[in-house]
Amino acid sequence: MIIQATDAAGIYVPRFCYHKQLSVAANCRMCLVEVEKAPKPLPACATPVAEGMVVRTRSPLAREAQKGVMEFLLINHPLDCPICDQGGECKLQDLAVGYGKDVSRYHEAKRIVKDKDIGPLIATEMTRCIHCTRCVRFGKELGGVMEFGGLGRGEHMEIRTFLDRSVDSELSGNVIDLCPVGALTSKPFRYTARPWELMSRPSVSPHDCVGANLDVHVRRGEAMRVVPRENEAVNECWLSDRDRFSYEALNTDARLTRPMIRRNGRWEETDWQTAMEFTAAGLRKAVSAHGAGQVGALAAPTATVEEFYLLGKLMRALGSSNVDHRLRQMDFSDDEAMPPFPYLGQEIANLERLGGVLLVGSNLRKEQPLLNLRLRKAVRNGAHVALINPVDYEFNYPIAHSLVTDLMAMERALAGVARALAARKGVAVPGELSALIGKGEPSSDEKAVAEMLASRTSPAILLGSLALSHPHAAILKGIAQFIAESCGGCFGMLPPANSVGAWLAGGVPHRGVAGSSITAGKNALDMLRSGVKAYVLLGVEPELDCLNGARATGAMHAADFVVMLTSFKPSLYQSGAVEYADV
Ligand code: SF4
Ligand code: FES
Repeated sequence: MIIQATDAAGIYVPRFCYHKQLSVAANCRMCLVEVEKAPKPLPACATPVAEGMVVRTRSPLAREAQKGVMEFLLINHPLDCPICDQGGECKLQDLAVGYGKDVSRYHEAKRIVKDKDIGPLIATEMTRCIHCTRCVRFGKELGGVMEFGGLGRGEHMEIRTFLDRSVDSELSGNVIDLCPVGALTSKPFRYTARPWELMSRPSVSPHDCVGANLDVHVRRGEAMRVVPRENEAVNECWLSDRDRFSYEALNTDARLTRPMIRRNGRWEETDWQTAMEFTAAGLRKAVSAHGAGQVGALAAPTATVEEFYLLGKLMRALGSSNVDHRLRQMDFSDDEAMPPFPYLGQEIANLERLGGVLLVGSNLRKEQPLLNLRLRKAVRNGAHVALINPVDYEFNYPIAHSLVTDLMAMERALAGVARALAARKGVAVPGELSALIGKGEPSSDEKAVAEMLASRTSPAILLGSLALSHPHAAILKGIAQFIAESCGGCFGMLPPANSVGAWLAGGVPHRGVAGSSITAGKNALDMLRSGVKAYVLLGVEPELDCLNGARATGAMHAADFVVMLTSFKPSLYQSGAVEYADV
């Protein structure tokens, strides 16, 4: 299209409805340009370039057309910039400066559109809407849930949710960035700051191991909002709602801002020096009384790389390797065989080029929404996706084959696929795997999945967090790797939160920083099953975060000393920790 050529050449053409990630709608007409031999101006976003074409983007004809469109767009716009939250970063405001008139020639009554309440995240002011349909196309093409639509015609057209429903998709916040005017704005951020008051700080999302690039907008040291930072290799220009809105927890009254220690059964606020000395004394006492092996650290997978590194360093300085973040994992039998970190097996961007995918134990849409978006693109390009899941999770693209089994039968179903694939491809099952894969005729569903993997180009098998925390996770991984090798595809894992960071920064008991070899300590399960005498908990609420909450709580109560590193008061006061923690 002409607009892509002009963008590549650094020549600006005004636009509202065009977005490089969305289909071409060409309904705002702001990008009209003069094309030689064309009888009238043409939309640059919808006109393909051709050999020898002469395009003028700033000729008198092009400028007149662009200004004319701007005048029409402003007819019904309320021109309420002083009270609009988009002020300062509004495309309409910016372009009105360049292409609008000082005085409107429109004296008739403007239309108004009643405001809608579409949920807690997105504020609407639909009188400002210019009907560019970016929000509609995003839902239909990328979000996978068509939450917005255009109802009515001409003067009566409205962009709204169907049946006045709330907007609930896991990627809904992206329409805030897409909306070029102040029709859709962030509800939590609304009226709290102006864009020119904010400093932008680059960061990375800790939530789902995707590492979405984001910018935290800060005012006087306070995080005011989070917006995506474009990175085509990772998150493109999108963010999941979890990444976008979780900053709100940073500024609540629930934050624990001062260290607390428990003396004689009573909690008291203290200063950092006292808290540090109290903690060091408690840990030293546990080491000297019971040995370093009786001190252990459990970290939430959402901790940062720096936190994992420092926690590992603290434990190893005490002489213990009991550090782990895999709070829900049951099977640790293949720890030594694991790669340096649980890996997707390919670049994120490659997901949208896959031809066939088998997802095992994954609720991808909720767990890694941005990876799900890539797979959705692959499906739109013709890929087939099959599932082996213990729950019939909702996906926002057609699933070619769905094997919903109980948790323990997932292994049997995967083995059936492996048997069918081995027969289809004529490959021998290696000796050590043959007992796991077993014998017998695969079911028709298992054969269909195997056929899909064998016949599609660029197949992949991905194990989600339910597979990785499965009681027989090592077996699932072994069979999945065999399937990937047999079909010439890719094997990958989809671990939760910042697990990759944990593996690399020493947040596992059997490997040091960057996978260096160390004397192995106890894993999370062993630390809680057999118990240790002192725990350091980093962002962990044992009763909620660990596999067996009751057992974890029991282990905490049985310990002599528990250090709880938490950012929030409820983690302490509204949990059992108030009784068992010491710091
Ligand atoms: S609400 Fe915003 S993004 Fe949606 S059609 Fe209107 S102007 Fe475009
Ligand atoms: S940007 Fe081309 S018609 Fe809207």
